[in-house]
Amino acid sequence: MTSDEVFFKWLPDYSVNIKTIDDQHQELVNILNRLFVAVSRREGDKAIAGILDALTSYTRTHFALEERLMREARYKDLVPHMEEHRKLIAQLDELCNKHLMEEKPIYFEMLSFLKTWLREHIQGVDTQYSAALQQSGFSVATWEREATAEFARMSASRKWWEVWKAA
Ligand SMILES: [Fe+2]
Repeated sequence: MTSDEVFFKWLPDYSVNIKTIDDQHQELVNILNRLFVAVSRREGDKAIAGILDALTSYTRTHFALEERLMREARYKDLVPHMEEHRKLIAQLDELCNKHLMEEKPIYFEMLSFLKTWLREHIQGVDTQYSAALQQSGFSVATWEREATAEFARMSASRKWWEVWKAA
């Protein structure tokens, strides 16, 4: 696959100017790209289930961390932002259930939906909270130092990365 054929190409425009958050967003893009490749190559249920599991686990962990950041910074639009997260998690769970329980294949429309959702979420509400936090004088750098350690613990406990690296 050449770079022109990457399903979801990360662009500098997607940065929210908080490195920890950008890194996690890029990892979500990586997992989505991995899922696209697996679906395109018809890699089989086990491989696809593993990647779906990595995607949902990583998304939950990332959302939890992002919500903690907004809560600690007393961000005014935390509640509607959490609602967007909750809705996507419900949709991801539904996608997993369809695939695992009902053995329905993953369609490219679903992958496109996830790609569009993530891009619009990052460029919309994520960019808004990041700008608001930086304007409010909240010390993002201090938070990032703490968050990095916290995130490592959260990731280790979920072991999503083992599935991901093995895929
Ligand atoms: Fe978000």
